[in-house]
Amino acid sequence: MVAMAEIHTAHTADLDAATLSAARALLYDVFDDMTDHDWEHALGGVHALVWEGAELIGHASVIQRRLLNGGRALRTGYVEGAGVRADRRGRGYGAAMMDALERVVRGAYELGALGATDAAATFYAARGWTLWRGPCSALTPAGVRRTEEEDGCIYVLPVEIPLDLASGLTCDWRDGDVW
Ligand SMILES: CC(C)(COP(=O)(O)OP(=O)(O)OC[C@H]1O[C@@H](n2cnc3c(N)ncnc32)[C@H](O)[C@@H]1OP(=O)(O)O)[C@@H](O)C(=O)NCCC(=O)NCCS
Repeated sequence: MVAMAEIHTAHTADLDAATLSAARALLYDVFDDMTDHDWEHALGGVHALVWEGAELIGHASVIQRRLLNGGRALRTGYVEGAGVRADRRGRGYGAAMMDALERVVRGAYELGALGATDAAATFYAARGWTLWRGPCSALTPAGVRRTEEEDGCIYVLPVEIPLDLASGLTCDWRDGDVW
């Protein structure tokens, strides 16, 4: 990390409106397909923020979800909104944010999980995140529904419990993209 950059972690409740607004704007800049649901999904947990002075150049957060597997509802730290401003990539900021969030996952959850973009899959795999190979589903208001389009995109960070990565994995319900 270059000398000027600082990483901060804080719960959503401890971030002021200007910081939340900067994080939202950064993610809209990073992701072409960003939606307000995606932003809402990044709230309610612990954020890792990279600042260069007053400029926010990196954001990621981990929020709690329940993922169903093998008859268990696993307390899961789900990573959302991971992005570094394009002109600041490759300087270790993404790794620093994930270091901070993986500490939270290991300390507070039974499992870490995230839906990876194609471009970032190798970034997560190099950090020890493992591709979920089994069928993915969502627990919708109408019951469990397969989410075939997400198969091959979900990565997990097992913490304590043994997992069969080829078995089914079902996420809890939310508006917008469920994974
Ligand atoms: C993915 C992302 C957050 C990584 O941030 P970053 O600050 O560029 O990453 P770092 O500089 O910390 O890189 C850490 C390591 O991962 C590697 N890496 C970074 N991005 C990578 C990528 N997309 N694919 C493969 N490896 C990658 C780096 O080469 C580096 O390897 P090294 O430790 O051997 O030198 C950033 O590229 C990004 O914002 N991408 C666009 C948004 C996105 O796809 N986010 C992921 C959503 S799931």
